[in-house]
Amino acid sequence: MSGKFITFEGPEGCGKSTQIKLLAEKIGVQGIKVACTREPGGTATGEAIRNILQHDAAGEPLGERAELLLFAASRAQLMDQVVLPILGRGEWVLCDRFIDSTMAYQGFARGMDIAMLDYINDVAINSRKPDLTLLLDLDVEKGFHRLKERYSGGNGTHDRFERESHDFHQRVRDGYHQLAQREPERFRIIDADQAIDEVASNVWDVVKEAVL
Ligand code: TMP
Repeated sequence: MSGKFITFEGPEGCGKSTQIKLLAEKIGVQGIKVACTREPGGTATGEAIRNILQHDAAGEPLGERAELLLFAASRAQLMDQVVLPILGRGEWVLCDRFIDSTMAYQGFARGMDIAMLDYINDVAINSRKPDLTLLLDLDVEKGFHRLKERYSGGNGTHDRFERESHDFHQRVRDGYHQLAQREPERFRIIDADQAIDEVASNVWDVVKEAVL
């Protein structure tokens, strides 16, 4: 039997990576094998693509279509090398961002055609959608405030997406809400404006109800 595939989505600073770690621990305690990965990245090819996407590492500005197809290439590689084999063994995968990031960022925020993005996503994932997508919802200002605190501790610098305007990130957040409305059976919205353990407890309740 296929394992469960859970993706985490949300605007910048919403706390996805922290919540993925906490959820993986709880799933592990149930005796279920679980792997955590991320997008873009998760494979050697994907991590090389991530570097280009986040920091213009090729030394020239990246066009919109190239950006889209690089995300798709990283996703296709991650599916074939990591996600599908693990699910095939009946184990679980938790992924930090997935197809809905393309819809929110390239679609709703950059304005690329939604039907075209649906098609490209479907090619990249070989039609295997997540079983559950947790949208960690957070006000744009609050997310950026969290990032500022993270970076003031010397932990990284703003990437290409974090340097986009407030309006861009507001469109990302609103876009996520539209995506959740479009597929209510797959999405659950979690209020990320709470203490870490409260968010974690909400996440766990949803996972138990939806897929465990
Ligand atoms: P993060 O992993 O630190 O959240 O950074 C990934 C960045 O890339 C984030 O700003 C969202 C963006 N992104 C897209 O624009 N489209 C995509 O399909 C994915 C996976 C990420």
